[in-house]
Amino acid sequence: MTSPPLLRGAPIASRLRAEVTLAASLFRDQVGGPPLIATLLTDRHPSALAYRDAIDRGVRRVGIDHRPVELATGSSSDSLIAALASLNQDRSVHGILVLMPLPADLSVHLVFEHLAPLKDVDGITPTNAGRLHLGLPSLRPSTPQGGIEILDFYGLPIAGQNAVVIGRSNVVGKPFATMLTHRHATVTTCHRQTRDLADLTRRADIVAVAAGHPGLINRAMLKPGAVVLDFGVNVVDGEVVGDADATGFAGLGIAYTPVPGGTGPVTTLVLAHNTVAAAFASLSGSLDAVATTPILL
Ligand SMILES: NC(=O)c1ccc[n+]([C@@H]2O[C@H](COP(=O)([O-])OP(=O)(O)OC[C@H]3O[C@@H](n4cnc5c(N)ncnc54)[C@H](OP(=O)(O)O)[C@@H]3O)[C@@H](O)[C@H]2O)c1
Repeated sequence: MTSPPLLRGAPIASRLRAEVTLAASLFRDQVGGPPLIATLLTDRHPSALAYRDAIDRGVRRVGIDHRPVELATGSSSDSLIAALASLNQDRSVHGILVLMPLPADLSVHLVFEHLAPLKDVDGITPTNAGRLHLGLPSLRPSTPQGGIEILDFYGLPIAGQNAVVIGRSNVVGKPFATMLTHRHATVTTCHRQTRDLADLTRRADIVAVAAGHPGLINRAMLKPGAVVLDFGVNVVDGEVVGDADATGFAGLGIAYTPVPGGTGPVTTLVLAHNTVAAAFASLSGSLDAVATTPILL
């Protein structure tokens, strides 16, 4: 497929939906119950509630059950650890996603340390992050994996490309840079202390932006024909916008993911994929099984 100017997530989401539905039904036939993802809400933050709703709609549609679990407001670290231990031990739960952000008095390190790697469907534990880094089968963070799916679906090359990734969070920027490196791109990771960002982006074939900063990337910062993956989700004047100002992109032949409608729809389906992969991995008790889940990802 030739590079289109608009890299919409819908066709990838639709393909993943079909694949995950099939794999979830295979699991159900084999085990007698559906794959199940539990979400753990620790703070009634609007973005966490919105993501929980999206997960609920997205996974039920493909035959995965969702169990929403909530901690009471003001819960202690011990309560968070106990909730994770209970979900870790529950054999009917195959995937656990702790909704972010956590309240200020709960450290995300507790989640890293106490979430069972075999149920870590957003790939945030040291085991999954380490396995990704080493190139071993792992449960991969769904947003950056969705970015790879978009590039592949639209036939956009990765090997040999110069890629700039703006953002170095553990859930988006850092794992995406690792994934691109494994796929033989030459990757530069940028952050707030990067000097002359535009100089770097102008030389890039692929620019991925996950900063949470509307308008951080614009036409003047890109070379003609570049590919822009915009992971940003920001609300400006009541509208959802990304991190890139796409004005004039089409005139430069820049292929880009629109916001909304680009990377977002793919994320939930990759999470659903990971839940089924975790369900199959639970049968052998090994993350190596993720590589042989009966889904194409
Ligand atoms: N599309 C999806 O499915 C999806 C999923 C998750 C998140 N998101 C969105 O993606 C964005 C990033 O999320 P996140 O969780 O990765 O955020 P995060 O943890 O806040 O990390 C933001 C990163 O961007 C960097 N950054 C911020 N402003 C910058 C600037 N002006 N110049 C250069 N670098 C800058 C930060 O640099 P420092 O490290 O120096 O602070 C940091 O590394 C948010 O808009 C979020 O809503 C989208």
